[in-house]
Amino acid sequence: MVEIKTPSEIDAMREAGRVVAQALQEIVKHAAVGVRVSELDEVAATVIAEAGATSAFLDYHPQFAPTPYPAVICASVNDVIVHGIPDRYRLKDGDLLSVDCGAYLDGWAGDSAVSFVVGLPRARDLALIEATQEALRAGIAAARPGNRIGDIGHAIASVAVAGGYGVPVDFGGHGIGRRMHEDPHVANHGRPGRGLVLRAGLVLAIEPMFTGGGDGRYRTASDGWALRTVDGSRASHSEHTVAITDEGPVVLTAV
Ligand code: MF3
Ligand code: CO
Repeated sequence: MVEIKTPSEIDAMREAGRVVAQALQEIVKHAAVGVRVSELDEVAATVIAEAGATSAFLDYHPQFAPTPYPAVICASVNDVIVHGIPDRYRLKDGDLLSVDCGAYLDGWAGDSAVSFVVGLPRARDLALIEATQEALRAGIAAARPGNRIGDIGHAIASVAVAGGYGVPVDFGGHGIGRRMHEDPHVANHGRPGRGLVLRAGLVLAIEPMFTGGGDGRYRTASDGWALRTVDGSRASHSEHTVAITDEGPVVLTAV
């Protein structure tokens, strides 16, 4: 069932979103060659705790996973697409890192992800990252009353097709509110003019994830969480929590 939020509920969600945005901002500041991924998890945990919020990821146990999630962020390095569990790995020059973070504040969830390169970037990694950012912007622009959910997926996939990138199927965005994952599923592909009609008060996490290779195929790692590209290509992920309003889309995961 799709939950419609009131303007004051959307204001409350913006506060939750702000905490997530601050955590990601601190992580981007701290990430550097030689830093352990687990240290970035601690950075996020501190920001969330100091804001009086709680992690939406820690102990989260979706049906597809064998175990509850053991950390505060997902940190997906290079060929890991999403759901990388932070470990003691030290970031290397040129690593492409995607960081996803979610938090609850006053009973409302926020969920956002950023991708960036640590140290000296390769041009093709920057292009891949820019493509998921562009796809996120395009998906957000399509998130307006009267459009349909397929318009969002179509906008995202069009950017992937133009760049020759792959779109992993089965994973995508979602409704978000009092729970991190609510209806509807927001696919990263779709047919324009098809699916659920979007209306004011719908809040969606929109999250394009692209692979450098064109087929988007992935395998689940032995930990049951991390998704890796089959072809070994790198991947990028960009996500915002977005409210659909009569004035247009409003990004809630901003500082
Ligand atoms: N943004 C990711 C998603 O919506 C967050 C996964 S959270 C985890 O699927 F806790 F499952 F890792
Ligand atoms: Co999400």
